[in-house]
Amino acid sequence: MELTQPDASKILIRKAKPKDLEGIFQIAKEVGSARKNMNTGFLIDDYSVSPDKHKGKFKEKIASGNYFYVAVEKKKPIAFLMANSVEEWESTCPNWRQMVRWRPDFYWTGIKTFIYSEKMAVDINYAGKGIASLLYDSMMSDMLAVNIHDIFSETVISPIPNMASLGFRRKQGFTLAGVRYEEFQNNIVTNLVFHKKI
Ligand SMILES: CC(C)(COP(=O)(O)OP(=O)(O)OC[C@H]1O[C@@H](n2cnc3c(N)ncnc32)[C@H](O)[C@@H]1OP(=O)(O)O)[C@@H](O)C(=O)NCCC(=O)NCCS
Repeated sequence: MELTQPDASKILIRKAKPKDLEGIFQIAKEVGSARKNMNTGFLIDDYSVSPDKHKGKFKEKIASGNYFYVAVEKKKPIAFLMANSVEEWESTCPNWRQMVRWRPDFYWTGIKTFIYSEKMAVDINYAGKGIASLLYDSMMSDMLAVNIHDIFSETVISPIPNMASLGFRRKQGFTLAGVRYEEFQNNIVTNLVFHKKI
């Protein structure tokens, strides 16, 4: 019988380590290709193009980031969550706050610091089993330990909507905070900017 929930005793959630790089890259490459599947979700980059550049970025984030997690089964990464402290995110994307068209009723009042959840992907063979939720649980528990209560994250809705990501945001209780347009390979990508208070 197929498991509908992950067997927590077999899956370990921990911070990413340099040895996870290849596994993380392979997961990203599976869902980050030229063909985007709106129902199962996708990463916007095509990881088969300039793989070394993408690996370099992951490597850097694993080394410097405090909020980069992996789900591991039998020592093999099966999912990852790459999130950033506000300082990390402001150095990655310095004008992010100015680039977002904030909803008129969204206020920054009371938000001193936040986590920006940048990228998440689950091995397609493990999707729909609650693993992304486990990664989020780990991140949120680390956030609360240092008194951080706000998460921002974005979901692509055009040229192709990421329905899996939209479903995940809804389930996690994110609310819409704004919209961001981004130039990407001679196209305009539209991202919904979501906020969650924990
Ligand atoms: C989006 C993604 C990370 C979800 O991972 P997951 O481990 O399957 O997510 P979970 O099992 O924890 O699901 C939690 C909730 O998300 C929603 N969800 C997950 N996959 C979904 C899908 N394909 N379509 C719609 N909603 C989905 C559901 O509401 C689900 O709750 P439920 O199981 O009670 O219905 C995964 O599908 C993925 O890696 N997709 C490709 C990459 C991607 O889109 N990344 C962007 C992530 S924000």
